[in-house]
Amino acid sequence: KPYVVGIDIGGTNTVFGIVDARGTIIASGSIKTQKYNQVEDYVTDLYTELSRLLEQENATDKIMGIGVGAPNGNYFNGTIEFAPNLPWKGVIPLAQMLSDRFGIPVSLTNDANAAAIGEMTYGAARGLKDFIMITLGTGVGSGIVINGQLVYGHDGFAGELGHVIIRRTNGRLCGCGRTGCLEAYTSATGVARTAREFLEIRKDDSLLRQIPIQDITSKDVYDAAVKGDKLASEIFDYTGTILGEAFADFVAFSSPKAIILFGGLAKSGDLIMKPICESMERNMLAIYKGKVKVMLSELKESDAAVLGASALGWEAK
Ligand code: BGC
Ligand code: NA
Ligand code: ZN
Repeated sequence: KPYVVGIDIGGTNTVFGIVDARGTIIASGSIKTQKYNQVEDYVTDLYTELSRLLEQENATDKIMGIGVGAPNGNYFNGTIEFAPNLPWKGVIPLAQMLSDRFGIPVSLTNDANAAAIGEMTYGAARGLKDFIMITLGTGVGSGIVINGQLVYGHDGFAGELGHVIIRRTNGRLCGCGRTGCLEAYTSATGVARTAREFLEIRKDDSLLRQIPIQDITSKDVYDAAVKGDKLASEIFDYTGTILGEAFADFVAFSSPKAIILFGGLAKSGDLIMKPICESMERNMLAIYKGKVKVMLSELKESDAAVLGASALGWEAK
């Protein structure tokens, strides 16, 4: 069969695409993950929308398999377990639920792992054997590739670097229930939290003061920084510095050639890249200095994750 389906489940949106053997997304669609308190309703709507897309593309009977990337996804058993940023709690056998519904084999993995596979197969990591993929979105995720292989660990959950603790005292509460995680500072919601803190503590003027403080998003911070707003660009400095400090430690773990960034925040370009690179270099062991590249995903929007997930569709059983 000529096609596979890739599904990228995000805390906010779910994006799906029909993909051919060359890695071209021939058609795609999306639904709002956040809308569904019950995973059964989510699966029903996903089924309806994806079926419609398949019919429209005349591809209903031409799908080899479905690959899914999901926060807290487990490649070994196809479950999503205790995801801080999804509305569904506990252990969700999503791969099974989807394959029951579609009658097609489904393979599921962590969303950041899927992005790493996408980058390895089609993007910035082609030819790289050692790199760390970092996804900066509603959550912060990672896919660790060592010697050309994604690291899964003994139970399939390796690489939860978003929940590495970077503040031991007075750390922010994280969605995982612990305090001081990297994610609580550098996810999209983390950046919005930083904005609120800065605005409360400081007295200087900022474009961000025109927005009701509870409504501020990371996108607002980006827009203000692009317009030259000083406070907004300091929020990026703060965020980038924290990321760079964390990356300096991650480097010591697997000596990657590159760290590849993907997700909403990564789109902020130099605003975030400059403080990241400076702080990473400052904090790395001498043996790594000047050797690790920080790069942005070469795949646009959520393509890295959809393509990476779809790659799993070929081998789904
Ligand atoms: C989850 C990861 C996920 C990341 C990005 C984190 O909160 O623990 O599994 O990859 O968010 O969605
Ligand atoms: Na991962
Ligand atoms: Zn956490």
